[in-house]
Amino acid sequence: MELMEKIKANAKKFNKRIVLPEAWEERTLRAADILIAEGIAQIILTEKPEIVHREALKFGLKNIERATIIDPANHAKKESYADLMVELRKSKGLTKDEAMKLLENPLFLATLMIKAGDADGEVAGANNATGDVLRPAFQYVKTLPGISVVSGAFIMIMPDAKWGDNGMMVFADCAVHPNPTARELAEIAVCTAQTAQAIAEMEPRVAMLSFSTKGSAKHEMVDKVVEATEIARKMAPQFLFDGELQADAAIVESIGRLKCPDSPIAGRANVLVFPTLESGNIAYKLVQRLANAEAIGPVLQGMAAPINDLSRGCSVSDIVNLVAITANQAAGSY
Ligand code: ACO
Repeated sequence: MELMEKIKANAKKFNKRIVLPEAWEERTLRAADILIAEGIAQIILTEKPEIVHREALKFGLKNIERATIIDPANHAKKESYADLMVELRKSKGLTKDEAMKLLENPLFLATLMIKAGDADGEVAGANNATGDVLRPAFQYVKTLPGISVVSGAFIMIMPDAKWGDNGMMVFADCAVHPNPTARELAEIAVCTAQTAQAIAEMEPRVAMLSFSTKGSAKHEMVDKVVEATEIARKMAPQFLFDGELQADAAIVESIGRLKCPDSPIAGRANVLVFPTLESGNIAYKLVQRLANAEAIGPVLQGMAAPINDLSRGCSVSDIVNLVAITANQAAGSY
């Protein structure tokens, strides 16, 4: 079974409650209709019911009737969510009035539903910038114990099976944290190894990428990757990490052998960790376009509950896929 089919089949078994906060938006509503019809997840829409019904009728989406619709302006738990927000943000001085106002934003409402245990995960971003989706999640759901930074991985499926595991590789961070410290980069590497193992069913061989291979260049940016590699090894000794490596030394067997013959992974890496968001984001988009690769994600990692951010150029099937991944994360099968 192909990876995405397997992820969807698992999601059906878990039957998780996933919130879609952009429920006035055509692609989101079409995806919700498919997700309900196929039983991939229970769908919660945080939008005015009259808007959801009007748009669903316009697009002929009959299954939307079976979604749970929560009106951000008026619902039974508004006060209790506001109290929870005030409690969680008391060090920032958030007032109840401010919390009540924020809850009228479907993105904040979705996050609070997860925090309060009324939903299991969220997918948004078809019509909101990454920062707008992530800020409520950072503020109220926060990171996993031992992890200080959220990052975004892509499962890259290349038509040429010679790369990674039969054409499959995992890249990160391609979506969230612009300029990680060595410690943060190590956390990103560990989270990415976990994502590769759990979602892509790989035995991760993680290359910590740089413009230098094993001391061929001297620069503080290289030092950061060397230090991150050491920290990652200590954090997760069960995984194989090596760095600093250039991309060709990481993935081309003859070059890996030539430049670093003692490396346990050089020339056969299946997980690539980029030193900055700039390099990771550019790399995944180039591989997607130039190598005609499928890019599944971004899968957000390191968050205490599964919240995933779509690209604004996403398709209906991108939303369906990311909801299925989110449901798997919520079930802890990842
Ligand atoms: N992980 C966990 N928490 C974080 C992170 C992170 N990576 N970044 C910020 N935070 C926390 C902060 O500590 C802060 O917490 P607090 O309010 O409790 O003190 C909270 O989030 C908000 O912090 P801000 O300073 O307001 O947020 P910031 O300005 O750092 O923005 C953001 C965070 C929006 C994610 C920013 O780093 C960003 O814009 N990243 C780039 C996203 C992007 O554009 N990606 C490319 C497109 S995606 C694609 O192509 C697939």
